[in-house]
Amino acid sequence: MRAAYVARYGPPEHVSIVELPVPEPGPGEVLVRVEACAVTAGDARMRAGRFPRGFGLPARLAIGLRGPRRHVLGVVLSGTVERVGPGAARFAAGDSVAGMTGARCGAHAEYAVLRESALTALPDGVSHEDAAGVLFGGTTALHFLRDRAGVAPGMSVLVNGASGAVGTSAVQLAAYFGAEVTAVTSAPNRELVSRLGAVRAVDYRETPVERIGDRLGERFDIVFDAVGNVSRAEGLRLAKPEGSVILAVAGLAETITARGRVFAGSSPERAEEFALLLGLLAEGRLDPVTEVLGGLDAVPKAHRRIDTGRKVGNLVVLPPLAD
Ligand SMILES: NC(=O)c1ccc[n+]([C@@H]2O[C@H](COP(=O)([O-])OP(=O)(O)OC[C@H]3O[C@@H](n4cnc5c(N)ncnc54)[C@H](OP(=O)(O)O)[C@@H]3O)[C@@H](O)[C@H]2O)c1
Repeated sequence: MRAAYVARYGPPEHVSIVELPVPEPGPGEVLVRVEACAVTAGDARMRAGRFPRGFGLPARLAIGLRGPRRHVLGVVLSGTVERVGPGAARFAAGDSVAGMTGARCGAHAEYAVLRESALTALPDGVSHEDAAGVLFGGTTALHFLRDRAGVAPGMSVLVNGASGAVGTSAVQLAAYFGAEVTAVTSAPNRELVSRLGAVRAVDYRETPVERIGDRLGERFDIVFDAVGNVSRAEGLRLAKPEGSVILAVAGLAETITARGRVFAGSSPERAEEFALLLGLLAEGRLDPVTEVLGGLDAVPKAHRRIDTGRKVGNLVVLPPLAD
């Protein structure tokens, strides 16, 4: 099979397309023919060896010193079950499924193996590209907004980085849960975030995020930072006295000290949340904001786009190669 391969940390040019054996599903595992996979900010971090402040050494010890030990990156895919391993009974060959690989990665390939518990059935009417697009940002936004900060109807939510993968899901899910969303973005993306449900869009080039509370004369029930330029103290100043602060890009120190109403850390990957998000897609309640860049050979291009810091929504490629 063809796969996008990263031998060493470095620029997008370090991603090459190689031929590898098709992986074998072990007990409880499923071999999926990948119809669509997302290229995410997480993949770009793993390709570049670029991690939030303080995580450089621990991350390299965990995933590889000079390059990722899992050479085929990619954690989100949607595809067709090719074969199931011993004892795997939830899916059968030919089923359409979507899911996330966890730390094993491997989605940037024509085939990938996942635990069957890491997959959910693709609902009728949801395309592979939309499913692959929505899960990375969707699971993150859902975890932090619903499970950590307890978003509820009538709350005010500030989303910083509203046009990215996490931000577009955060804006939509907060609005879905009945909150009033203020989105922080740049001028070209104001229309997008308004369409997604933000009642107000603030251009961070006119008003830096830490000054938004003073400018609007308002504090928020939930402050959701998906950029990494809001400190714990700034987040708490933007929040109401009982409000919550979500630091999705926290450094090591902020992750360790996050407690009480400050939330950081990584979001779990759970099949029931995949099903919820795909159900919202099927009902037309969630816009996946997905752009298909091409075949597997478009993976380096996707990394380049992410590295600009200007990616809008989600980038997806459709293995095999385009030509
Ligand atoms: N904790 C977790 O579990 C978790 C999970 C997923 C992701 N993350 C992290 O969350 C971060 C965001 O991920 P993502 O996938 O959403 O990234 P992304 O899609 O690459 O984000 C790009 C977006 O960020 C916006 N942006 C850049 N600088 C900004 C600024 N100063 N103010 C407001 N918006 C700005 C850009 O909009 P403009 O062009 O308008 O500037 C662009 O649309 C990443 O660092 C990722 O590693 C954490």
